[in-house]
Amino acid sequence: MREFSEENLTEAVVQRFANTPDPRLKLLITSLVRHLHAYVREVEPSFDEWMGAIHFLTRAGQTCTDKRQEFILLSDTLGISMLVDAINHRNREGVTETTVLGPFYVENAPEKPLGSDVTGGLKGDPLYAEGTVCAPDGKPLANAIMDVWQSDADGFYDVQYADRKEAGLRARVRTDAKGRFYFWSVMPTSYPIPYDGPVGDMLKATKRHPYRPAHLHFLIAAEGYETLITHLFVDGDQYLDSDAVFGVKKSLIRTYTRQDPGVAPDGRNMAVTWYRLNNEFRLKLSVSRNHVR
Ligand code: BEZ
Ligand code: FE
Repeated sequence: MREFSEENLTEAVVQRFANTPDPRLKLLITSLVRHLHAYVREVEPSFDEWMGAIHFLTRAGQTCTDKRQEFILLSDTLGISMLVDAINHRNREGVTETTVLGPFYVENAPEKPLGSDVTGGLKGDPLYAEGTVCAPDGKPLANAIMDVWQSDADGFYDVQYADRKEAGLRARVRTDAKGRFYFWSVMPTSYPIPYDGPVGDMLKATKRHPYRPAHLHFLIAAEGYETLITHLFVDGDQYLDSDAVFGVKKSLIRTYTRQDPGVAPDGRNMAVTWYRLNNEFRLKLSVSRNHVR
């Protein structure tokens, strides 16, 4: 065909992919073409608007570094990340719900003994986090590997401090024989996602705020179970109903209980107000018996 028109162009482009050998790739790309064409037909962009979109995506690419992934931020703020998460984690009956991994996860965080202080000197009100990791039937899971990471009192993660090399408010712990975990950290605070790039410009232009409600991140792996990626949100946070990345689920909101100065569960004498968090995580059995995200 050589006579392309507004009417026949979509089918002509779809046809051009007819010989794609991999059926999944063929579906992914032809469906993308159909949806993009439908979008263009609906909004009828001017050339300036079309070029504006090209510039936006170009800037998103240019903003990416080994420490910054602007396309994931775009996916997060458009609700795509949580939609992919929801589609891939249906049927969470009886097990802990999942949410976004986020850009501040670092592989191979330093492993610390149970009961450690994981703050690395970063500031905040003391928090004693404890609980268990279990199977869906409540059986405790010994030796589960738990990665924890969070922001400090100023709303920053360790990796956001340009001159800092060592882990802070980030660690890996292993559950004991009874599936228990416990460590000292600080109260997380709400914080803005990075908004000094094109995604931030999009938020500003649309009068959206960049804040996430305060949370602790967890990534928990145990042999024979799906790896759980989740958060525990702080009840009462002002951004629970307007999380910039749509990551909040009711089942993940917890009371971080305020405690007066006194003796903590591990015998530590607390001279200041501190907080306590207790949670039971339930992991889903892995179908393949392998670790699956
Ligand atoms: C986070 O919770 O660390 C996060 C998630 C998505 C975008 C930005 C930050
Ligand atoms: Fe976070």
